[in-house]
Amino acid sequence: MKKRTIVIAGNWKMNNGPKEAEMLTKEIISKIKNKNIKYILCVPFIDIDIMYKAINGTNIKLGAQNCHWEKSGAFTGEISVDMLKNIGIEYVIIGHSERRQYFNETDESVNKKIISALNQGINPILCVGETLKEREADKTNDVIYNQVTKALENVDKESIKNVIIAYEPIWAIGTGKTATPMQANEICKYIRDIVKKLYGENISDNIIIQYGGSMNPSNAEKLLSQDDIDGGLIGGASLKADDFTKIINIADNITRNE
Ligand code: 13P
Repeated sequence: MKKRTIVIAGNWKMNNGPKEAEMLTKEIISKIKNKNIKYILCVPFIDIDIMYKAINGTNIKLGAQNCHWEKSGAFTGEISVDMLKNIGIEYVIIGHSERRQYFNETDESVNKKIISALNQGINPILCVGETLKEREADKTNDVIYNQVTKALENVDKESIKNVIIAYEPIWAIGTGKTATPMQANEICKYIRDIVKKLYGENISDNIIIQYGGSMNPSNAEKLLSQDDIDGGLIGGASLKADDFTKIINIADNITRNE
């Protein structure tokens, strides 16, 4: 039996302006059959306004893909956690590997963003994951341990309950190369063990740990059935209403059947 409610999140990345966002969301809504699981759409900032109207009356939650930890100020091009809070955003992806890789995001900035989001009552989706080189050098556990512990520095026992952690091996992102269910589960379990060491068993038993990296309708069932995988953070397949809703319906069936 699945211990935790499955959480499926779409990460649209830098895709879809407001018009496309509205169309895609309406299509997704029309195709979702069941409601046992939780699902979130993490969209570009400029889509948020129109998305509120599109998701009205549904149980879709909205998330952003990044934030700045300061309240306001001279940070050209940035959006603060406070601004997200003011428009009612409930989730924010923090530390995605693309931000670490292309925008110099560090464990320190990830930690500041996590703290700031939690202080504002926004739920962070913290991304961690190793490169292919690190995996081949047998460094996966060290990399994950560092990323998780540094990101969660000064996050207390109450706040951690609002954090989702997404294990996204970089070599599986957008490559069509998925981690096997066993590989993915092994690292998700390892992350749960780190959380247990830091916060105790009760919290580690309840924290949501997602897998992300080329999840699609053909591999979702095996991945999402694993004991320590509580959901998916989905890039490419979240841009296609058919694929995304198939994954949601698969997750929903797993929840109901078990
Ligand atoms: P893909 O599903 O396109 O591999 O992307 C995964 C991801 O980066 C989600 O954040």
